[in-house]
Amino acid sequence: MKERKAAAHEVAAAWETNADAWSRHTRSGYDVYRDALHTPAFLAALPPVAGLQGLDIGCGEGANTRALARLGARMQGVDIAPTFVRYAEEAERAEPLGIQYRQGDGMALPFADRSFDFATAFMSLMDMPEPGRALAEARRVLRPGGFLQCTILHPCFVPPSRRVLRDEQGQAFAVQVADYFRNPDGEVERWWFSTLPAELRQKDAAFQTPVFHHTLGAWVEMVVSAGLVLEAMIEPSASEEVAAQHPVVADTRIVPLALIIRARCRA
Ligand SMILES: C[S@@+](CC[C@H](N)C(=O)[O-])C[C@H]1O[C@@H](n2cnc3c(N)ncnc32)[C@H](O)[C@@H]1O
Repeated sequence: MKERKAAAHEVAAAWETNADAWSRHTRSGYDVYRDALHTPAFLAALPPVAGLQGLDIGCGEGANTRALARLGARMQGVDIAPTFVRYAEEAERAEPLGIQYRQGDGMALPFADRSFDFATAFMSLMDMPEPGRALAEARRVLRPGGFLQCTILHPCFVPPSRRVLRDEQGQAFAVQVADYFRNPDGEVERWWFSTLPAELRQKDAAFQTPVFHHTLGAWVEMVVSAGLVLEAMIEPSASEEVAAQHPVVADTRIVPLALIIRARCRA
């Protein structure tokens, strides 16, 4: 369901509204694409980070920030929504990994120039009204030679209109996309994780996510304009084993849902 466009402060407010249920649902394992496919693919593509200072932009409740810290990186996390930061800090107190979190805007990062060796952004840049500004900010806080690795919803296969076509057995056999050149510019979509049980849909309101869309060409242009050098683009696809174990991600054997981009500052 789509509604009118949201202003920048309303985008931040929408994420704050989502943060409590989002944190509980992801911690209960309902973000299957993230846990079974996208984070493992992201970490497999990541250059070595042990001993490096890293910033996780749009860190949410911190699950991926903790994964990076467990690889030996010295992590900080930043998120626009105070409730996400509170959940992340609670997890840090329960299992200290040396991570510092703070509330802040990815489009105006509260960090000095050249503070980090690398930055990550897991499914957060495409939620920002001006991702080009966020990319320029990531570039600003990176040291020369540092890299940004981010995942976004794949611009080609998750444009504003998308429908998975299924056969009589419920098996996905195609993905229909449309509106590739349209930016909804903050129209609000309401949705739950697809595996969320009915009783939780009664209890927790659907997420409200303001949606933005940029073509693949526009993303490449934004990366290059930020002064970063494109280094890798990875399109995660579930293996037969992962799809059998988690049927919800089987559609990524047809087309990818996510695009992982790595780009680097010149040394
Ligand atoms: C799809 S969630 C992903 C959360 C987390 N990175 C993960 O992978 O589980 C998008 C995140 O981006 C954050 N976000 C959205 N706009 C932001 C902004 N302008 N600055 C910082 N964080 C933002 C949201 O609050 C939310 O935590």
